[in-house]
Amino acid sequence: MAQEVRGVIAPGKDEPVRIETIVVPDPGPGEAVVRVQACGVCHTDLHYKQGGISDDFPFLLGHEAAGVVEAVGDGVTDVEPGDFVILNWRAVCGKCRACLRGRPWYCFDTHNAEQKMTLTDGTELSPALGIGAFAEKTLVAAGQCTKVDPDVAPQVAGLLGCGVMAGIGAAINTGNVGRGDTVAVIGCGGVGDAAVAGSHLAGAARIIAVDIDDRKLETARTMGATHTVNSRETDPVEAIRDLTGGFGADVVIEAVGRPETYKQAFYARDLAGTVVLVGVPTPEMKLELPLLDVFGRGGALKSSWYGDCLPSRDFPMLIDLHLQGRLDLGAFVTETIQLDEVEKAFERMHHGDVLRSVVVL
Ligand code: APR
Ligand code: ZN
Ligand code: ZN
Repeated sequence: MAQEVRGVIAPGKDEPVRIETIVVPDPGPGEAVVRVQACGVCHTDLHYKQGGISDDFPFLLGHEAAGVVEAVGDGVTDVEPGDFVILNWRAVCGKCRACLRGRPWYCFDTHNAEQKMTLTDGTELSPALGIGAFAEKTLVAAGQCTKVDPDVAPQVAGLLGCGVMAGIGAAINTGNVGRGDTVAVIGCGGVGDAAVAGSHLAGAARIIAVDIDDRKLETARTMGATHTVNSRETDPVEAIRDLTGGFGADVVIEAVGRPETYKQAFYARDLAGTVVLVGVPTPEMKLELPLLDVFGRGGALKSSWYGDCLPSRDFPMLIDLHLQGRLDLGAFVTETIQLDEVEKAFERMHHGDVLRSVVVL
């Protein structure tokens, strides 16, 4: 029997979001219905609402979520009703060229539910990132459910489903930050702060946080930044070089997604260092760099998709570290809100007032 629940939809380009009754089908083969307990508000949800991702309105927003599996369809063996899970948007297929080469964190054919959730009049919904979790319940592919230790608070766990995982993964997976490395992080919102926390966890010797907002720099310190630079007042490339013996950082993580900050990252790294781009640019942005500098500075210019995470490997591990007191995921939760406060949370996010607002259900 399909069920009716409340959910937050984006009805059309730039229209305010609203709560609607969502029809959630019973899980079919390979699918699961999850009772959502918490879901963070991410920039990507706002981009969906603004029409910046596709025109497939109406969207069922929300994708940084944790909850409890309520029912599973035929053939589902990895999770069962009652399991506490974080939802992921990389349900690896095991068959694409990345998976077959043993690189499932790049999986090019990730799974989503085949059935559609709808409005009561039958209008099909497009779930954000194949999840749609600003809703009391959601239908996903079973592979999108990653079991973790249920001792963790849902509002903390859910954040690993997107932004915080992207930042931690940018440092530890893509950037390969290790003991003794010097790291700079440009842009210290939720993603950049997670990159700071990830670098700290990995044993970086020096972590330089760069932002244009002093409030963000203060928070970055609590996440493990050893130095901060306000790049409105100080040239960040010079400052990072000064703090690294004149050379630049081993790894520079760009967590804004703009050409000018990318250039700062490019020139603030040491020879043979690594730049990691985890900020997401928009289609009209262009980058111009002297090709001789690209060659002459060597090293690696990498992008980090979803922190190059493998949910089955990374989610349980990071939750365990959190429960052991070695990674303060709770610090990313600025506020918990209700389902009907998502629009307000978008505003606060836009003004840079929050790391994460998290809807609790
Ligand atoms: N230089 C340095 N910092 C900047 C600059 C700049 N020119 N412009 C903005 N910032 C800072 C902001 O002050 C803010 O602290 O970058 C941070 C961006 O953080 P958020 O807006 O909270 O975004 P976040 O959720 O961290 O995501 C950052 O990563 O995944 C992507 O789509 C996401 O592109 C976005 C980026
Ligand atoms: Zn695959
Ligand atoms: Zn997201």
